[in-house]
Amino acid sequence: MLFDLDLIKKVYSELPFKVQTARNLLNRPMTFAEKILYSHIFKPATKTYEKGKDYVDFAPDRVAMQDATAQMALLQFDTCGRDTVAVPSTVHCDHLIQAKLGADQDLSAAIDTNKEVYDFLSSISNKYGIGFWKPGAGIIHQVVLENYAFPGGMMIGTDSHTPNAGGLGMIAIGVGGADAVDVMAGLPWELKMPKLIGVKLTGKMNGWTAAKDVILKVAGILTVKGGTGAIVEYFGEGADSLSATGKATICNMGAEIGATCSLFTYDDKMGAYLKATGRAAVADLADHVKEYLRPDPEVYANPEKYYDQLIEINLNELEPYVNGPFTPDLATPISRMAEAVAANGWPDKIEVALIGSCTNSSYEDISRSASIAGQAKTKGLKAQSEFTVTPGSELVRYTIEKDGYLETFGEIGGVLLANACGPCIGQWARHIDDPNRKNTIVTSFNRNFAKRNDGLASTHAFVASPEIVTAYAIAGRLSFNPLKDKIINEIGQEVMLDEPKGYELPPKGFSVEDPGYLAPSANGKEVEVAVSPSSQRLQLLSPFTPWDGKDLMGLKLLIKAKGKCTTDHISMAGPWLKYRGHLDNISNNMLIGAVNYFNNQTDTVKNQLTGEYGPVPATQRVYKAAGIGSVVVGDENYGEGSSREHAAMEPRHLGVRAIIVKSFARIHETNLKKQGMLALTFANKDDYEKIQEDDTIDIIGLSDFVPGKQVTAVLNHSDGKADKIKLNHTYNEQQIEWFKAGSALNLIRKQFGK
Ligand code: F3S
Repeated sequence: MLFDLDLIKKVYSELPFKVQTARNLLNRPMTFAEKILYSHIFKPATKTYEKGKDYVDFAPDRVAMQDATAQMALLQFDTCGRDTVAVPSTVHCDHLIQAKLGADQDLSAAIDTNKEVYDFLSSISNKYGIGFWKPGAGIIHQVVLENYAFPGGMMIGTDSHTPNAGGLGMIAIGVGGADAVDVMAGLPWELKMPKLIGVKLTGKMNGWTAAKDVILKVAGILTVKGGTGAIVEYFGEGADSLSATGKATICNMGAEIGATCSLFTYDDKMGAYLKATGRAAVADLADHVKEYLRPDPEVYANPEKYYDQLIEINLNELEPYVNGPFTPDLATPISRMAEAVAANGWPDKIEVALIGSCTNSSYEDISRSASIAGQAKTKGLKAQSEFTVTPGSELVRYTIEKDGYLETFGEIGGVLLANACGPCIGQWARHIDDPNRKNTIVTSFNRNFAKRNDGLASTHAFVASPEIVTAYAIAGRLSFNPLKDKIINEIGQEVMLDEPKGYELPPKGFSVEDPGYLAPSANGKEVEVAVSPSSQRLQLLSPFTPWDGKDLMGLKLLIKAKGKCTTDHISMAGPWLKYRGHLDNISNNMLIGAVNYFNNQTDTVKNQLTGEYGPVPATQRVYKAAGIGSVVVGDENYGEGSSREHAAMEPRHLGVRAIIVKSFARIHETNLKKQGMLALTFANKDDYEKIQEDDTIDIIGLSDFVPGKQVTAVLNHSDGKADKIKLNHTYNEQQIEWFKAGSALNLIRKQFGK
């Protein structure tokens, strides 16, 4: 048994009391999402929180990490002094496998190329009580759904499609590595109380329509930003008619509308999936608290009163959608596709059709798609485009092989790819004659931004259900509508494809030989974490030095950044991704995208010791070697973008002592505080103009660093004059302790007597 039954028992035993307490505080009926949120507050709820405004400390039940983001998260966790993680956690090796030749060869190549990363992740998981899913075991969200997700639970995951677990009624939110470290270390996890969007589903799907079409339609309605700061809660008879895996597909792609997460309310379909995946005990427990795993009846009766926004979709009338190209919210019903292809000049010929991924590789998806593929043989058809199949897990792959579906796909030329992200995340060595030729691919994945799948700006990527993608593979044309169009077969006859048919769950059950799971040692104390000192991709972290109790004197201005400075400007992605586990190497990208106010150039700043201009990281390394601290100055909303912790760790590692800006993006400001950095804002924004290129800056008043009290900066200019300016901060008492200790993790270290 991989899931933690005791944890689930505890959550369910406390649920009735916690929900009733929150209901009394709110003095009104509650939605399902609110029941989960209020029952997962770090300290028992004693007041209500305003949606879209108040920040709340939560205590998630689980953490899941994928291999690309887990590296820095676990390197940080390694410094916090705990013997084991505070909550059940898992690592999933799925992002680093490149699709090139087919499942077996690609998996072997990845194990070879990424050996040191996998060795590190497996050894550190073993040490700290973290479950480890080997390369080839499957994609994080599918594996979580099959093994760990449970109705009414809350989890965070270091991947944006973590909300997939909402298909089993869980609040599951995608976060950065720093958040995962907090939760694994036993700290509260902060989130602004989300708004609520209700989606009422009526009717029942039929024919070619699939669960995917619900979210493709919702994306068209809400657009890529419409879910920002909100949880999307699906309910109604139509919701209850969808399989649990269909629900998961919808929740997965909620990421494409910017939603915090999406979820469905507990029902019999979820119970059936739990039982089919070896978790009858969880289903039984959930059945006993069912009323707490659904909205209160008054919410059903008057949903417009309890959701901030309400959408209604009638599944009887829903037709298949095809979304794209270049954005997942450009939704076209299949009946209008031919017209849209002609009007927009999209390439009609489909070159590659790809099914599977974490979004759409359930048994239902595969069996329905195979029912289409199987018709090619009986109707004298052949696939016109390349066709690939990516199972979401070894459990799915083994079962669909055993039940003959892989053979069916193989008969139309389908190529089986590894149980991994592959083409969904651009890990795809695509074979194409001319990379500049405008071309079309269709996938059952979730994202389709330019270059996402194959790195080519010329590729038009469309997203549809796996059934439609399979039909497209056979027809080879984007303008094809399988609901009404005929295809000419090999002997010149006109034939039509029959509607897909399949099974929600395998009639003969799921089976697997080796799911690819490694349980951690019961006592990991003696386990050595495998990192070679000469590695270019991994580096163990040393705890940052605590504050010495003195004011910060004689700091050099490193850069005065002008205009937008996002986490991408501070710590670029692209070719730097491979150094995500090596703080010193990745620090060579620090602020290389920021524009220097004094010369309007990127990555060219004045070294005050030599008077010469050079790259930002190299200049900072000179200051560090000389034992001189520095200051970075920035404009408005400094650090917007992602929650990437590297953007805060790199300046800390290279010896920057303070970041002074007009305003911060909130998550980056918190990340800086966590890393023990001073994050300050100009009390008077015009003081930004007083910063000169040769300034030496003193930050004084730190002996009286308390919440709400300003500190002072003295700007010593090269002409001998000086300006004294006031700086604001938002540190609370706890965060000031982080600063004093050198980082939030150092403080935890102290608590554990390390
Ligand atoms: Fe992987 Fe794509 Fe899912 S990158 S986690 S298969 S969204």
